[in-house]
Amino acid sequence: MRERLLSGGRFLFYDSHPLIDHFGASMKFPALSRPLQVGPYKLAHRVAMAPLTRMRAERESFAPRPLNAEYYGQRATKGGLIIAEASPVLSTGRGNPATPGIYSDAQVAGWRKVVDAVHAKGGIIFLQLWHVGRVSHSSFHGGALPVAPSAIPIKAEGMKAMTADGKVSDYETPRALGNAEVRGIVEAFRQAATNALAAGFDGVEIHGANGYLLEQFLQSHSNQRTDEYGGSIENRARLLLEVTQGAIDVWGANRVGVRLSPYGIANGSGEPDPMPLYTYVVKALDSLGLAYLHLIEPRSSGSGRAEVNWQNVPSAMVLFRPLYSGVLMTAGGFTGETANAAIADGHADLIAFGRIFISNPDLPRRLEQGYPITPYNRATFYGGEEKGYTDYPVYDELTSA
Ligand SMILES: Cc1cc2nc3c(=O)[nH]c(=O)nc-3n(C[C@H](O)[C@H](O)[C@H](O)COP(=O)(O)O)c2cc1C
Repeated sequence: MRERLLSGGRFLFYDSHPLIDHFGASMKFPALSRPLQVGPYKLAHRVAMAPLTRMRAERESFAPRPLNAEYYGQRATKGGLIIAEASPVLSTGRGNPATPGIYSDAQVAGWRKVVDAVHAKGGIIFLQLWHVGRVSHSSFHGGALPVAPSAIPIKAEGMKAMTADGKVSDYETPRALGNAEVRGIVEAFRQAATNALAAGFDGVEIHGANGYLLEQFLQSHSNQRTDEYGGSIENRARLLLEVTQGAIDVWGANRVGVRLSPYGIANGSGEPDPMPLYTYVVKALDSLGLAYLHLIEPRSSGSGRAEVNWQNVPSAMVLFRPLYSGVLMTAGGFTGETANAAIADGHADLIAFGRIFISNPDLPRRLEQGYPITPYNRATFYGGEEKGYTDYPVYDELTSA
């Protein structure tokens, strides 16, 4: 199969999945094929699509396009959960070109077509609600500085901001949000949740991970505020919990998820001692009766570029499973084999796949049947058109080629 793929010339193998050879032709993963109740939805399997920023929305209106609907429709399965890519809840929440928003009528109309394409195949689709905070650049905001909990720039070595025209630049020192503005962020998320409901989504996921605004508030190095949103763990967690409550007010708790990356290093994040902070947050979320809690494993960071080798740091699901009684989803470097084991061993209920869902539109079926996995091409992750987006074939097309 791999020879045919290569000689067919349809793919360039810039960046093979390191664990590709773990997939044997006859391997099946029964724990991944078990149904699961998530809020009001009965999932037919445990292979979820992770939220994946692809930067292919309309460049001016930031509305999803028919191409985006085609892409999500390709990845939908009956009773399969898709978490649609992070979508800014207002324009100051932007930090990348061509990411779809959820704050205008045109964006809601564009998302409606995406949702329809997924529903046509019996799929379930949540939208991830996003504010990038300081992971941005003034070129996105008419020259105004990006906003953050405190005026502290990202200092991580070698990290650069993306500009509105897709170039790179040093990170600027962001402007600290005023107290009333923080309350405005809560309202923006609530409005975005309302917009997602109008677009026909099945639920929303709050993006509290990967170094973006809500995580900037959670973590002590980026939040040095002295009001009720800074200082103690309770205060630093306040914004995430208020935003989550706002989404619950719109959707009901059982159609709201929250994503966290407790040991992540993406976008300059990293709490010096994550356990006290995340123990508090996970317990607080547990009491809300959410659709799910979604973790990112410490071994992978952000877009998966850095494979994080934390020493003496056990996996997020192993650490937090005992603290969370609801549905626990996790992501980060899983293969069919390791995902199946995580569920069979009771560490997680649901596994979200990112990079290999990009290159395998029929991933749930490939895992169920033990078919080979097509490697992804990192060069086409962000921006562009069909190439590396809607042109990855399903397994049947490969075998009949
Ligand atoms: C191209 C790309 C875009 C991503 N965009 C998002 C995003 O919008 N929101 C998010 O929470 N994580 C995002 N991630 C992280 C993934 O959801 C996932 O956690 C990560 O890729 C690890 O899973 P994997 O090893 O299965 O790829 C992105 C990752 C990639 C590769």
